[in-house]
Amino acid sequence: MAETKENFKLAGEAQIAVHWKEEELYPAPAKFVQQANLKDEAARERFSEKNFPQCFEEYARMLTWYEPWNKVLDTSDPPFWKWFVGGKLNACFNCVDRHLAKHKNKAAMVFVPEPESESPISITYQELYARVNEFAALLRDFAGLKKGDRVTIHMPLIPELPVTMLACARLGVIHSVVFGGFSGEAAGIRAADSGSRVMIYADSYYRSGKLIDHKAAADIAVETAERQGQVVDKVLVWRRHPGRYGSTSEMLNGREYFVDDLLKNFHGKIVEPEHMDAEDPLFLMYTSGTTGKPKGCQHRTGGYLAYVTGTSKYYQDIQDEDVYWCMADIGWITGHSYIVYGPLALAATSVIYEGVPTYPDPGRPWRIAERLNVNIFHTSPTAIRMLRKTGPELPRKYNYHFKHMTTVGEPIEPDVWRWYYNEVGKREAAIVDTWWQTETGGFLCSTIPALEPMKPGSAGPGVLGVYPVVYDENNEDLPPGSAKAGNICIRNPWPGIMQTIWGDHERFVRQYYQKYCRNPESKDWHDWPYFASDGSLVAKDGYFRILGRVDDVINVAGHRLGTKELESACLTVSDVAEAAVVPVVDEIKGRMPEIYVSLRPGCTTPPSEVVAKVVHTIETMIGKIARPKTVQIVPDMPKTRSGKLMRRVLAGISNNMPVGDITTLANPDIVELIRVQVQGKAPVKTKEGPEDIKQFGAAE
Ligand code: WTA
Repeated sequence: MAETKENFKLAGEAQIAVHWKEEELYPAPAKFVQQANLKDEAARERFSEKNFPQCFEEYARMLTWYEPWNKVLDTSDPPFWKWFVGGKLNACFNCVDRHLAKHKNKAAMVFVPEPESESPISITYQELYARVNEFAALLRDFAGLKKGDRVTIHMPLIPELPVTMLACARLGVIHSVVFGGFSGEAAGIRAADSGSRVMIYADSYYRSGKLIDHKAAADIAVETAERQGQVVDKVLVWRRHPGRYGSTSEMLNGREYFVDDLLKNFHGKIVEPEHMDAEDPLFLMYTSGTTGKPKGCQHRTGGYLAYVTGTSKYYQDIQDEDVYWCMADIGWITGHSYIVYGPLALAATSVIYEGVPTYPDPGRPWRIAERLNVNIFHTSPTAIRMLRKTGPELPRKYNYHFKHMTTVGEPIEPDVWRWYYNEVGKREAAIVDTWWQTETGGFLCSTIPALEPMKPGSAGPGVLGVYPVVYDENNEDLPPGSAKAGNICIRNPWPGIMQTIWGDHERFVRQYYQKYCRNPESKDWHDWPYFASDGSLVAKDGYFRILGRVDDVINVAGHRLGTKELESACLTVSDVAEAAVVPVVDEIKGRMPEIYVSLRPGCTTPPSEVVAKVVHTIETMIGKIARPKTVQIVPDMPKTRSGKLMRRVLAGISNNMPVGDITTLANPDIVELIRVQVQGKAPVKTKEGPEDIKQFGAAE
């Protein structure tokens, strides 16, 4: 079990994570296997390459179609694949209406408010149907929305969020949900990019025991969108407590409306679901990329819904009597695919928890699990690390039993995995470590829970019908067991893959396909591997271990932040001349941004003030999740002779790792100066002296 060496230059987070060793396998608990949705050994064969793409009809048949497709996959315009061509369906109908016959009295959602004094609220499929229809009528008749329009939804984790999404889907309106923790400015930029003239908000929500004023963000969002040329003519505001306003921000007459007031006019209204083409977009989800501007990943209706439904059934093992709880936020892709669309398409009971997992104490998730009888649990390594640190013994104190658990969003350290398995899962649960991305709609790598053993820290093989490969920088395939790290790619299209970047087809091709495309003229999908921007290794047994991002994206607590976005925010602080952001390893969040700034010549602002301004700017332009671990004020940045800022060197310093070759730098001396400042090692005597360099902690 030799340690894996870095075999070629991996950038970003992957470089930090490349020294892990091989781990042992764990079989799935027999009790799980016996009851699993997918325990049929022939599944791999059914989804093997020789049956591609027809194999994915198995997922499409889990849905109800108004009209069947006439072609499974159209590859005539690579890499703009089309799935289930000619098929017509409605996502809302599939997640709600079709369940009324058998499950109308079953809870579709159980909402758990953060204050423990408020009881959980169950919403049956019948009730969800009523709410979704009434809100769809409001969107159509009051807000004037129709098929193809875009709407930006900036809401916290409350049941009104899935109601809003499903109402949009019913009308064929393309929803673009922005994570509630993002700033108003971030929401405004996304609203402008998507061309949304309607924004949907909640007035407030609970977080760590406080009622947070969220409507204030709407004012900034609308202003930001308007500065970018997008007029927002309606802001619809759901109130956390209907009839009681939880914000101090004024409601602008003629533009802003309380949803609970308006809904009175739509009581009992029913709206026919639009018959959508399989290729009509269902939603946009913005994510960070290598350039400053966030990109709107555009997902299709048919392929996406089929893919998340099929993977929810086979990989999440959702069955009729299960209570399923995915602790992600619906504002991220995990919530879209595996809280809303996948589980509801299967008529699941899906738990939605409003608040933070450790509020009021780290026993909270286990109390929720016990009370609601949750038996499928889905969360991220950051949450697991946090719960382990703050309450390692607590799961034992509660009487719940999970049959299945998921980890998603970041690499999980094998030690943390073992705690999850032994303590949270009580050795009774099958765990899947699912690797995927906003762009990919659903899982890409995972073990099949009843058929393939688990391996701590490894996602597993490609999921059914997905054929991953690791390429090095010279397009060479690094085969299983080669112990070399490279770029993970997917060789084939699959139904969950995004259609394009909203309004930027060229960037879509450049970002995901250009790097490994064998022939841009080819109409054959084999020539168009999807480049995921993650570093990976593949073990002898075909299990992929994901090492982290190889681009300028930092994965903070499972949330993607673009270093370029953070750097441009820093540059809006007038004292800052240059800024560089690098990922630094964090015990709980996996990675956090560390910011290096150099100041404008003659700047007299006290360093602590500059740091405070930088932190404040990041929080207001992006959101609190982007808060840096530290801000380092340095006299100069390490640069190549051509003036390129060497983030790799700074990342090495921040993580106590070798900085690599610095002989080609224009200013190699600065490296030691910065190293001493950051690592606090014995100062090296130089003329300038490290005394001039200040360091201030910025993290909470
Ligand atoms: C990382 C979240 C290791 C990866 C679904 C990817 C993971 C990015 C895993 C996408 C996993 C996601 N193991 N790393 N199981 N799952 N990642 O778009 O770096 O928010 O590129 O989608 O998270 O993040 P996104």
